[in-house]
Amino acid sequence: MRAQYIIKPIICCSLVICLMYIYMTVKYSSFTNTNKFSETLQMEGEVNDFINVRNVSEKRTNLKYILQWTSPTNVPFVYMGVGQQGFIDRNCSHTNCYVTSDRNYLGDYTKFDVIAFAGPEVVRFYNTKELPLKRSPHQKFAFASIESADNYPVCSRILDNFFNWTWTYRLDSEAKWGYIVIRDSENKIVGPKTNMHWMKLEDMDPVSDNIREIIKSKTKAAAWFVSNCYTKSKREVFVKSLQAELINYDLKIDIYGKCGPLKCPHESDECNKKLETDYYFYLSFENSFAEDYVTEKLLHSLQNNAVPIVFGAANYTRFMPDGIYLNARELGVKKLAEKMNELIENQEMYIEYFKWKNHYSYYRRFESIETDDYCRFCSILYDDELVKKKSTYENFKDWWNPPNRC
Ligand SMILES: *[C@@H]1O[C@H](CO)[C@@H](O)[C@H](O)[C@H]1NC(C)=O
Ligand SMILES: *[C@@H]1O[C@H](CO)[C@@H](O)[C@H](O)[C@H]1NC(C)=O
Ligand SMILES: *[C@@H]1O[C@H](CO)[C@@H](O)[C@H](O)[C@H]1NC(C)=O
Ligand SMILES: *[C@@H]1O[C@H](CO)[C@@H](O)[C@H](O)[C@H]1NC(C)=O
Repeated sequence: MRAQYIIKPIICCSLVICLMYIYMTVKYSSFTNTNKFSETLQMEGEVNDFINVRNVSEKRTNLKYILQWTSPTNVPFVYMGVGQQGFIDRNCSHTNCYVTSDRNYLGDYTKFDVIAFAGPEVVRFYNTKELPLKRSPHQKFAFASIESADNYPVCSRILDNFFNWTWTYRLDSEAKWGYIVIRDSENKIVGPKTNMHWMKLEDMDPVSDNIREIIKSKTKAAAWFVSNCYTKSKREVFVKSLQAELINYDLKIDIYGKCGPLKCPHESDECNKKLETDYYFYLSFENSFAEDYVTEKLLHSLQNNAVPIVFGAANYTRFMPDGIYLNARELGVKKLAEKMNELIENQEMYIEYFKWKNHYSYYRRFESIETDDYCRFCSILYDDELVKKKSTYENFKDWWNPPNRC
């Protein structure tokens, strides 16, 4: 009896010590992994994954494989589908891409053509352990975000020298993930792009009678449809001062949606119709300031014959010809109010803002297969030149973040 009382605690203690030893070893080795991240990368192939290796040669038919490293429920992956289905459902020209978030799908994740990372999730990684520890020199690591850099800045340096491709609203991304496509009068896609060449306003044809007719019915200054009332860009503060300034001209802004007194179902035809029949201007105000971050808010005005007043950090010449919109941040409250009043009082001047309609048209990108961003993500994998080209975002933090963001 006595012996048992002594032996039991000894066995227990030894077990505990053993377990602690194992725990410390594992913890220590992963700690060195973190610190030696770059070295680990070069030791590619030596890391044992304990994975169920499947018959890869059998799977590697003529498909390109995309691994979603981050959550498949995150934007933009949530609409990408699984396997080939997303591309098939969209009738993409290339459907030979296979999407999965199973890291073991090909036995080893270095075998994927692309590993894609959802921006809003990966910018919050502060530990390299959350990233793949190894990579093949042939595969592309792609950063994917439709959310603005101002709302999702990257504040650590662990993503420098990491991505080969980006899939974002930025016009210099390999794959665009945008809101807007511009076509010319022959229906050819002409923009937006970094170096846009627009027809000069004075060379454009005169505004059609149809447009003149539409404009005649307008009686109200400006409308704003908005549901996010407190934003990074503080657009709500600007609008307040603008409202105060417009009182001097007996003009006002009608605010629809969650942040104002007026109701109108978001993006409904009825609302859009109101823009066309009633309002001179529409506030295309972004919720945050980031390069090229111009959302569908711009299309509300352009597609419904109201002149856009923009508020954002983009170079808007990449998106619209000069002289067809007002830039709130450049003009400031006083000048903007003055200009709005001037155009409302002077119909011939106001009408000039619609000359572009003879030469250009605006669409959402998902409206055509040709510009569908999901289709594009598969088709670039078949763009041999782009795939062969070695590229890396060396200073990703500086590339992505707005100046002095973090
Ligand atoms: C893998 O699949 C290929 C093609 O179907 C076959 O020739 C090969 O024997 C398979 N290898 C293994 C290890 O099963
Ligand atoms: C794809 O094509 C089919 C058959 O032509 C059509 O029914 C379907 O609406 C198309 N889907 C899309 C998203 O365009
Ligand atoms: C803005 O974009 C236009 C059109 O692409 C370009 O010509 C101009 O140089 C850009 N301006 C700045 C300040 O980058
Ligand atoms: C991707 O980036 C990594 C890291 O800079 C680089 O080593 C690799 O060569 C690049 N691969 C491709 C295919 O561009």
